[in-house]
Amino acid sequence: MSVDLAWQKLPVDLDPNRLPKHVAAIMDGNGRWAKNKGKPRIVGHQKGVDALKDLLRCCKDWGIPALTAYAFSTENWGRPLEEVQFLMTLFERVLRRELQEMMAENVKIRFVGNLTDLPKSLRQEIERSMQDTENNTGTQFTIATNYGGRQEIVQACRAIASKVERGYVEVEKIDESLFEEHLYTKGITHPDLLIRTSGEMRISNFLLWQIAYAEIYVTPTLWPDFDRAEFYKALTTYQQRERRFGKVKSTNNK
Ligand code: IPE
Ligand code: IPE
Ligand code: MG
Repeated sequence: MSVDLAWQKLPVDLDPNRLPKHVAAIMDGNGRWAKNKGKPRIVGHQKGVDALKDLLRCCKDWGIPALTAYAFSTENWGRPLEEVQFLMTLFERVLRRELQEMMAENVKIRFVGNLTDLPKSLRQEIERSMQDTENNTGTQFTIATNYGGRQEIVQACRAIASKVERGYVEVEKIDESLFEEHLYTKGITHPDLLIRTSGEMRISNFLLWQIAYAEIYVTPTLWPDFDRAEFYKALTTYQQRERRFGKVKSTNNK
């Protein structure tokens, strides 16, 4: 995918010291994008992959160390079988096709969600991509697949309860940091900026715990049209926000 040279470097009016360290994206609107063009929904999903690829590269170009993308929710199984199957095959195909390039770009891939319920062949690609890129030190790229925030919290509770039952953890020792150790996102910093495309003002079960203090940016732009110019707008808005973290005066605007 070619990138307009004007967008290759961080735009000069963005402060490199106040960029989010972790951007999370709810990539919504693929179906509507396709419908607007009189095409089947799957065409929108295909286009959506291109948008994601460029956003990942943009994070590298502009100095944003972590990106998390919501690819498939635990609720998305409720879609027509044909669409679900298409998505699973698409994920597998894209992973196989892009792995080499991601290695070359030093990307560290991580999948979060209930991976055991995914088709076996996809699971194998997922495992391979995580293993191969494990020691990479570039952009941390997390893909939420068969992910649900509620499901993630429940599985963490179960894991902790089981440790308590077996005497490995004392109830008094359960605190926020121990809880986080049991989330799929263990070791990944919380997102600073959450982007949702297609104008919907909701979270749709994404990273419920982790976005407690994320800045939320919603744009009517549909995901396949979310390009660097759109990302620039999101980052500009982010840099205009005052992050207070519940305090009265801003001391930390990073
Ligand atoms: C987001 O686009 C992609 C996935 C959920 C996999 P949608 O498929 O939800 O597109 P809309 O919201 O129907 O337009
Ligand atoms: C959220 O989009 C899930 C993903 C982007 C993967 P949805 O299209 O599933 O969300 P709702 O149904 O509009 O809440
Ligand atoms: Mg949608």
